[in-house]
Amino acid sequence: MKVGVLGSGDVGQALGRGFVNRGHDVKLSSRNPKGEAVTTWLSKTKGKASTGTYADAARHGEVLVLATPGSATEDIIRTAGVANFKGKLVIDVTNPLAFEGSSPGLFVGVTDSLGERIQRLLPDAKVVKAFNTVPNTQMVDPKFAGGAPAMMIAGDDAAAKKKVAGILKEFGWPGPLDLGGIQSARWLEASVMLWVLAGTALGRWDHAFQVVHG
Ligand SMILES: NC(=O)c1ccc[n+]([C@@H]2O[C@H](COP(=O)([O-])OP(=O)(O)OC[C@H]3O[C@@H](n4cnc5c(N)ncnc54)[C@H](OP(=O)(O)O)[C@@H]3O)[C@@H](O)[C@H]2O)c1
Repeated sequence: MKVGVLGSGDVGQALGRGFVNRGHDVKLSSRNPKGEAVTTWLSKTKGKASTGTYADAARHGEVLVLATPGSATEDIIRTAGVANFKGKLVIDVTNPLAFEGSSPGLFVGVTDSLGERIQRLLPDAKVVKAFNTVPNTQMVDPKFAGGAPAMMIAGDDAAAKKKVAGILKEFGWPGPLDLGGIQSARWLEASVMLWVLAGTALGRWDHAFQVVHG
């Protein structure tokens, strides 16, 4: 698969590396593709990946990964070119975190979500919210005491979600827990605040949510 990763932070690098290590053709992108973080990442892929601008990555991928700061994501999509997303699976890992005051909050929620905003901005793309409730260190080859939980995902397109299910299995997850249409991103994104509180209570940041039943 040709994969375009938008965002070169911890998430973009981890997922980009995961796709490279499974033989996919990855282009990782940044505002500064010649910057140290990106070139160091590239040097570790042993020539099996490439880097470029947001537009380069959006053109390159048949699958696109949004790994950008929530508050910058819509601008980054416009910079990358809305037309470059047409017909593609867009794996949306973003969270609408707002950093004002002493603790983080969300800049959208309850009656809307960043996932829905992205789907509205990209009506011809198939947006699937995934990976946003797990830490970057666990996104590929997850290691949890008791095994990895199903990944909670949301999106309007069934075929796109099936593709994400395949990617999850490639990355070592048991599969998805499909929460329905992209509207469910409201609650997937909100649960990130719960994830932060749980991490604070546990004193560690390698945790994830699991739905259990009798
Ligand atoms: N970190 C996690 O474990 C985790 C887990 C789940 C979900 N998420 C979500 O996944 C997304 C990515 O997380 P991250 O931790 O990798 O993000 P990040 O490091 O904060 O940002 C990713 C990259 O975006 C670029 N960037 C930053 N500000 C920008 C701006 N104003 N305009 C354009 N580009 C900008 C930067 O790269 P350049 O300077 O090279 O352009 C940065 O390396 C976020 O929405 C986050 O909430 C994170």
